[in-house]
Amino acid sequence: MKIMWRAPTFVFLLIGAWTYVQGGDTSTQPQPDAPSPAHPAARAPHPLADMPLWAYGIATLPQPGDTAKPQGWGRQFNPAIDHDEQLKPVLHVAGSSRTYARIDLSDWANAVDWFPDEHVPMPDVVQHGSAALGEKKRACAICHRVNGGGRPENAPVAGLPVEYFLHQLEDFRSGRRRSTDPRKPNVPTMIGIAQAISPDEARAAAEYYAAQSGAPRIRIIESDRAPPLRLHGNLFVATSNERTEPLPDRIAEVLDGEHEQFNDNPHVGYIAYVPLGSIERGRALVAASSAGAQTAALPAAQSCTACHGADLHGLGPAPPLAGRSPSYLVRQLYDFKTGARDGSLALPMKPVASRLSTQQMTDIAAYIASLP
Ligand code: HEC
Ligand code: HEC
Repeated sequence: MKIMWRAPTFVFLLIGAWTYVQGGDTSTQPQPDAPSPAHPAARAPHPLADMPLWAYGIATLPQPGDTAKPQGWGRQFNPAIDHDEQLKPVLHVAGSSRTYARIDLSDWANAVDWFPDEHVPMPDVVQHGSAALGEKKRACAICHRVNGGGRPENAPVAGLPVEYFLHQLEDFRSGRRRSTDPRKPNVPTMIGIAQAISPDEARAAAEYYAAQSGAPRIRIIESDRAPPLRLHGNLFVATSNERTEPLPDRIAEVLDGEHEQFNDNPHVGYIAYVPLGSIERGRALVAASSAGAQTAALPAAQSCTACHGADLHGLGPAPPLAGRSPSYLVRQLYDFKTGARDGSLALPMKPVASRLSTQQMTDIAAYIASLP
């Protein structure tokens, strides 16, 4: 794609291309030498044609004017289930003496905590949300989980350095960190949270998550097949454990167990099916750059390990990458490429990501996610 990925140019081209695709220019008749507008060659490709939609948990490319539906707050009763049934304390998970009701799993302002002895006490903001948001507050742990492992649709935040964590909140707050896909609803929610959070709450959350391991670690399986998937919001759910679907060029990241039995058990993590050969291809890309070899994709000056540390466990302002959700990693690389992630520390990442194809991002993420 011949696009300057700096945000203003990018947005300009985006609007231009879309206006064209949608037939916005009605002033001219088809010229004899020009392909007719109905001809496929006359259609400009979608400027995000190479977008890894699977990493966003969205089925179609964004269109002009798209926005996200605001997310809910408070206790989210499921209208399809009897109200009183949802209040009954009938849920358990193996090894915990606690009991919760179904509605507790859908309470944005109070995260369930199956194993309180396994972590230092949760700061109020992590368990209940930012006080300034009142009835609309949302607990960090609802999305990022009590152990910081996160879900593929948000972010694994366990073990992030405090300064990096705080810097990201600042980027969300100032509008410098968005999503390439304006429909992804949890990013505007995250931005609202970053705008409301107090400095004390932010630091308490950062210190709490820095001390979490996010365990269990993600399980990576290289395969040419994955289970059939269904989108549930922006999360993929496996509808069977049989690997019946071809997996040519994407990663399929799903809960490592039965969705129905999950109950947000922090002992249950994720599994990622990655394409055959992707781990080795990703390793070669990262190793080539680290060894100083010149490749078109990764010039020597931009090796991942130079900035993120030899084991990719993070170094200075560059956060840890090893073992983190590959869907998250690919999404971030693409967001750097489009300029949706445009914070002051994103500067060194933009040239790196701009040179990577979606396929290379996928291979690199498969490799990095498999690292201890
Ligand atoms: C509604 C779900 C939701 C809630 C609640 C939420 N977040 Fe997030 N958070 C997100 C999403 C989504 C992202 C990443 C978006 C993306 O893919 O770019 C994110 C990213 C982050 C990151 C960046 C991680 C990284 O590696 O760069 C930090 C830090 C963070 N959140 C902190 C918090 C804190 C602190 C709270 C509670 C006060 C909180 N979040 C509550 C959804 C949420
Ligand atoms: C010149 C230094 C530099 C190089 C080279 C570099 N990175 Fe980064 N990377 C950073 C910095 C700094 C950040 C933090 C950006 C921010 O705060 O927005 C970052 C952030 C990231 C993130 C986002 C992590 C998160 O938690 O959201 C990913 C993913 C990433 N880098 C992957 C890579 C990969 C893969 C490579 C090699 C192909 C690479 N980086 C090479 C400096 C670098």
